[in-house]
Amino acid sequence: MSTQPFVPRDDREQIAAAIAAMDLVAGTDPTTLDPATLDAPDGAARAGSARPMGPTGRPMPVFPQPQPRESHGPARIVAMCNQKGGVGKTTTTINLGASLAEFGRKVLLVDFDPQGSLSVGLGINPYEIEKSVYHLLMERSVALADVVVKTNVPGLDVLPSNIDLSAAEVQLVNEVAREQVLARALAPAVPDYDFIIIDCQPSLGLLTVNALTAANGIIVPMECEFFALRGVAMLVETIGKVQDRLNPGLELDGLVATMYDSRTVHSREVLARLVEAFEEKVFHTAISRTVRFPETTVAGEPITTFASASGGAYSYRELAKEVLARCPGT
Ligand SMILES: Nc1ncnc2c1ncn2[C@@H]1O[C@H](COP(=O)(O)OP(=O)(O)O)[C@@H](O)[C@H]1O
Ligand SMILES: [Mg+2]
Repeated sequence: MSTQPFVPRDDREQIAAAIAAMDLVAGTDPTTLDPATLDAPDGAARAGSARPMGPTGRPMPVFPQPQPRESHGPARIVAMCNQKGGVGKTTTTINLGASLAEFGRKVLLVDFDPQGSLSVGLGINPYEIEKSVYHLLMERSVALADVVVKTNVPGLDVLPSNIDLSAAEVQLVNEVAREQVLARALAPAVPDYDFIIIDCQPSLGLLTVNALTAANGIIVPMECEFFALRGVAMLVETIGKVQDRLNPGLELDGLVATMYDSRTVHSREVLARLVEAFEEKVFHTAISRTVRFPETTVAGEPITTFASASGGAYSYRELAKEVLARCPGT
């Protein structure tokens, strides 16, 4: 990765303007947009273009097949972040993590949402957790190894959470260096893992600031609908503040479109706007809307094992390849 912050400081105004333009589009009826100005559906080849068009309206690159690593670590810490709920943060954490593990990476997932959805999605009963991320943050005597749980996917571990974590948000306020508590707690894991992915809660409060302070990179899942675009300005502002004050090395690894429906003009138009504002930061891979994802939550396992040959599993493997290609050394 380049060491440039993802939003060069003088570009922020330009991005704010692009985001403001999105809001204008939100006022129009998407069905009245001229289909001729939109890109061909994903997979369809555009005349004169050698490579098939991807869902983001750019030619779809072929990502290299990840090579196994000879040794593990140090980990790239990634915060899965969007202050809107229900956009696919937890689903992306689980399935990107499981795909990276399939490619031989050692992955630690951190449930950093008191709702405990990540833990539940990996088959852990939140009421039966003895030691959780809460204890890791708040009790000096608790070590990382006391909290780590192995999942059914080889190479994929998790630090589980439950409702206890909501107390941490309040208690951390009085801590010294309160924004750095998670970074300190995760430090012992960095040499052993290739990726640590933090599933953030849907807010920009102190827990999320802790995640952004601990992270090397951010992945922002975005639902393909116009209202989803509105919150991005606030997220960009928070990321900028964390870069300025706490974590100058923080980078945006990318934005990933979720709940994508290639049949609707609306989905494609939202993706086009996203690419306009964030350009190459938007992942080429988009995750389609499918009922298989809610099913996997009930099953308590990633889609890559629950429905290994499904389109959803394929997409997350592609996303994992894209992440590995974007982050050299991983
Ligand atoms: N691509 C998708 N297609 C259909 N449903 C999805 C998709 N991704 C996630 N979901 C479902 O949407 C709901 C919210 O997703 P989740 O990952 O929990 O979002 P968040 O963590 O951002 O709140 C869950 O019920 C999940 O199963
Ligand atoms: Mg979640």
